[in-house]
Amino acid sequence: MKAGIVGMGRYLPEKVLTNHDLEKMMDTTDEWIRTRTGIEERRIAADDINTSDMAFFAAQQAIENAAITPEEIDLILVATVTPDSPFPSVACRIQERLGAKKAAAMDISAACAGFMYGLVTAKQFIESGVYKYILVVGVEKLSKITDWTDRNTAVLFGDAAGAAIVGPVSENRGILAFELGADGTGGKHLYQDEYIIMNGREVFKFAVRQMGESCIHVLEKAGLKKEDVDFLIPHQANIRIMEASRQRLELPEEKMSKTVNKYGNTSAASIPVSLIEDLEAGRIKNDDIIVMVGFGGGLTWGAIAIRWGK
Ligand code: UT7
Repeated sequence: MKAGIVGMGRYLPEKVLTNHDLEKMMDTTDEWIRTRTGIEERRIAADDINTSDMAFFAAQQAIENAAITPEEIDLILVATVTPDSPFPSVACRIQERLGAKKAAAMDISAACAGFMYGLVTAKQFIESGVYKYILVVGVEKLSKITDWTDRNTAVLFGDAAGAAIVGPVSENRGILAFELGADGTGGKHLYQDEYIIMNGREVFKFAVRQMGESCIHVLEKAGLKKEDVDFLIPHQANIRIMEASRQRLELPEEKMSKTVNKYGNTSAASIPVSLIEDLEAGRIKNDDIIVMVGFGGGLTWGAIAIRWGK
């Protein structure tokens, strides 16, 4: 049995915060942010919308899109580093609101690689025949852990949620190969004290190296070549990091997902939100080979190769 994505949903807060808005809040410029990161604007959740609200909205849409009922969900995995509270988990909070009565539920803490960790975990339960449908959500309300006086980090992040229903798909489709990894020695470069603290240059170097390597490894594991790749969905942290992965796979510009300009870095939500937008725009078709790759605080990384379709 093969596991694949059979439904998707997303939630993006209405409030748009542009680079020009940030110019009025701190010593920065639209030009600096655009040229160094590719970001033009990001979404910020309202005060009364918490992480679990965003996760719930995205999950509802994914369940409807997969044409299943909440009662059919066996497991809920929520990748987030900004839960409403340490416990109960966001997964348990949305289990109640969805009415997913039989589902087990837990959060995954792997920062921006969290959605990759979630998909790979879901794959194991489905392909071993233990569970049939698993809800995987990547969600962050990073605005609540952003130091709005620190221009090094405040210009980078945004709030969003993306959700997928992972379930059985036909034998030649679904997740073909994956790579997950972590390097705790680099934890000091990106962490939360009260707010996000980051050594941008170190994270940049790590990201460029690791994203490229993981893309290559996952193709090797799937028995595929660079030419077989139809589409790349890199974690949307910085256009320069994303471009490095694209060049490593020798793909043309139109074969890489790009939402970083509109939403900034939404951590665990960035890959699923991008995936949905590419699907809706018709950039991804059934049987396309897609590589998704993420990296984040921990340090963590993860990549999967998937043949699209149910
Ligand atoms: O999901 C993972 C999360 N983290 C990341 O993905 C971050 C990875 N790193 C990066 O994306 C980049 O390193 C940054 C975008 C954070 C920074 O870009 P950079 O090209 O590495 O710039 P830099 O850190 O070398 O800083 C260059 C200059 C510095 O001034 P000095 O020391 O050269 O005078 C900074 O103080 O730019 C200054 N600077 C800014 N200037 C205007 C830093 N932030 C800003 C800002 N506006 N917002």
